[in-house]
Amino acid sequence: MKVLIINGPNLNFLGKREPKIYGDETLELINNKIKKFGMNHGMEVEFFQSNHEGYIIDKIQESYENVDYLIINPGALTHYGIGIRDAILSTNLKTIEVHLSNVYSREEFRHKSVISDICIGKITGFGSEGYKMALQYLSNLKK
Ligand code: DQA
Repeated sequence: MKVLIINGPNLNFLGKREPKIYGDETLELINNKIKKFGMNHGMEVEFFQSNHEGYIIDKIQESYENVDYLIINPGALTHYGIGIRDAILSTNLKTIEVHLSNVYSREEFRHKSVISDICIGKITGFGSEGYKMALQYLSNLKK
């Protein structure tokens, strides 16, 4: 099983970005841990991060035929990135939405997601463990 993990705007700043909310691990560290977890569960994991919605859309369009699932943390684009929603709909890519923070315990504008209703499910508030939880779910599917 091949899984693409996409992180959106400002997630390249993990480690220095509001550590009380997002933790002190860098994205590189998180991705290394996820990669190992994936390998131990027989999954190939590819990573992509961009601060630009268009690049994220390009990546989804380029990859959808070669991956089985998408795990995405669209960052702030979660709340208004209709282009990402349309890319997921256009490609029919089965998707899990992940957020490090619990978006429901934060500002009201973070409560709205433009992709939740077209995703398999959503994991929010478990820090970087959320990506692993999503992978764990997917690895159980193939058993
Ligand atoms: C986030 C939550 C978003 O509201 C925020 O804009 C982010 C990160 C999270 O992982 O908790 O950039 O997606």
